[in-house]
Amino acid sequence: MAEFRFLEEVTSTNDLAKAMARDGAPHGSAVLAWRQTAGRGRLGRAFSSPEGGVYLSVVLWPEAPPERLLHLTPVLAVAACDAVEAVSGVRPGCKWVNDLMLDGRKLAGILVEISGGAMIAGIGVNVNTEQAAFPPELRDAAVSLRQMTGKTFDREKLGRELADRFAAACLTAIRDQKAWMARYRVNCLTLGQTVETTGPEPVIGTAEDVADDGSLLIRTEEGLRSVQSGEASLRKT
Ligand code: BTN
Repeated sequence: MAEFRFLEEVTSTNDLAKAMARDGAPHGSAVLAWRQTAGRGRLGRAFSSPEGGVYLSVVLWPEAPPERLLHLTPVLAVAACDAVEAVSGVRPGCKWVNDLMLDGRKLAGILVEISGGAMIAGIGVNVNTEQAAFPPELRDAAVSLRQMTGKTFDREKLGRELADRFAAACLTAIRDQKAWMARYRVNCLTLGQTVETTGPEPVIGTAEDVADDGSLLIRTEEGLRSVQSGEASLRKT
């Protein structure tokens, strides 16, 4: 049976979930924390994890190898939007590929890591976070559910909802790939925007579509370019 662990403060819930997977924790087992001292984000970045948030990692044992699950991050982003809406009544949108956004600011980020045969799905959500709790450089770019609504939410309830939805989404990610990705496109705020990708050779153009494998299709002056990973930030025109 899947286990659900809770700790007030951890280094990174993804590290704990990896240890749980090594010890044989079943699909859907999760670890939830209120603070992280060494939270990790995508692209090797640190992930600020102040009090008020939900920091959760879920052990997933997919029924297919990782190369068939390139679209898992966008699938989990849609599942996370569903979970946030179910608990708070507020529906975020997705910024390609792994961010949840509200009112133009970042509400949550997802990091999927591979560990042995398991995939570890980590998410950090700004739930009851006060603006002053964010580091100064993030205060304009981050938002919490409490800031948006004036309400305080049950963080454990959201953690359990996310864990259940991640576990279920992972098991249907391949069979229902087209349906999940159709939902991702509907929720994807990046589409239609002028974007610039990160990396040594930035791609600049209009985000036209997201393919079923999760890659972003960008219309550039030279034609349609497919971007598999990285980040596409809005380009100020
Ligand atoms: C990103 O925005 O770049 C992804 C952030 C992912 C953060 C979550 S919080 C829970 C889990 N533990 C971590 O160290 N990272 C993920």
